[in-house]
Amino acid sequence: MKIGILSGGGDAPGLNAVIRAATRTAALKYGWEVVGIVDGFEGLLTPTRTRELTSWNTRGILFLGGTILGTTNRGNPFAVKDIIDGKEVVRDQSATVVENIRSLGIEVLMVIGGDGSLKIGHGLHKLGVPVVGVPKTIDNDLMATHVTFGFQTAVDTATEALDKLHTTAESHQRVIVLEVMGRYAGWIALEAGIAGGADVIIIPEIPFSMEKVAEKLVARKKGGNKSSIVIVAEGAKPLGGEMAVREQAADGYVLRFGGMGERVGEAIMKHTGFDVRVTVLGHLQRGGSPCPYDRLLATRYGSTAVEFIAQNKLGTMVSFQPPTLQPVPLESAIGELKLVDPQGDLVKMAEGIGISFGR
Ligand code: F6P
Repeated sequence: MKIGILSGGGDAPGLNAVIRAATRTAALKYGWEVVGIVDGFEGLLTPTRTRELTSWNTRGILFLGGTILGTTNRGNPFAVKDIIDGKEVVRDQSATVVENIRSLGIEVLMVIGGDGSLKIGHGLHKLGVPVVGVPKTIDNDLMATHVTFGFQTAVDTATEALDKLHTTAESHQRVIVLEVMGRYAGWIALEAGIAGGADVIIIPEIPFSMEKVAEKLVARKKGGNKSSIVIVAEGAKPLGGEMAVREQAADGYVLRFGGMGERVGEAIMKHTGFDVRVTVLGHLQRGGSPCPYDRLLATRYGSTAVEFIAQNKLGTMVSFQPPTLQPVPLESAIGELKLVDPQGDLVKMAEGIGISFGR
């Protein structure tokens, strides 16, 4: 048996732990060959780019951030973009990719990815390439699994940032706004906001009123608090307003968010006259060593994906359904996004301890 491993889309802490665990389970337990695809789906276009993976050459990567295989948000084989005579041309190269996978002798492809990459994996599976998916994203927005690896590390990083911002905000009697990632989902902002003692949490699932946010900050000041901390998810939007988008596809899909933290900071200054500073945490949330929780989760995901291959559970994604990992059909992993429930326990609990969501 020869399996291929590919990481697609944005990186997430724990990718290397998945690669290591999958390689070790395949090689040591089953005696299979493992090949890593370089730079995501781009490595399956012609000419293909691969490297052999063994238990020996995947030593020492458990705690490494990023991915030793490289990844990219480009290279979707169903819509490869080229510039020909100065014009963008989009071509379906999936048949070539299927052919390349066969020529490489890959019998099963393990796709470690978020929504977009798992969609591509599902497309290839429908074309006859046996695929097993592993859910990856710091955004934690995949419906079919309890939690994705990488998310907990991102929450840790954002919480640590809040801890640091508290001390400087207090010294200078400021409001500090921290913008975090998450696309359409507010999980990072919500969980880091609660863990890091934010006073206001702004998430995409609860469009915010600037007046309510200002009310909360003014009340805190009147109550004797010298400073306040506001955490803003990049995909948030004001009531009746728009998201802050830097780049958008023709069909409206947001390719790049950015700027909502700055907009909220400006509005707070205008509404309250307080001294405000804005920090954008950005890719610090994606880089660096995975926390122990993510190392363990990623190891379980990688190893279980190989077990599913051994059990012929193909066309599935490994889903964490505590306390076990279960196969779920790939299509169930790529439909709906998992978003924060505005009436859910976590949000209500946060409001109960005095956190404002600007509603
Ligand atoms: O999906 C993960 C994520 O980090 C999002 O939270 C963020 O919007 C996006 O990727 C940024 O991606 P990049 O800068 O790599 O295009």
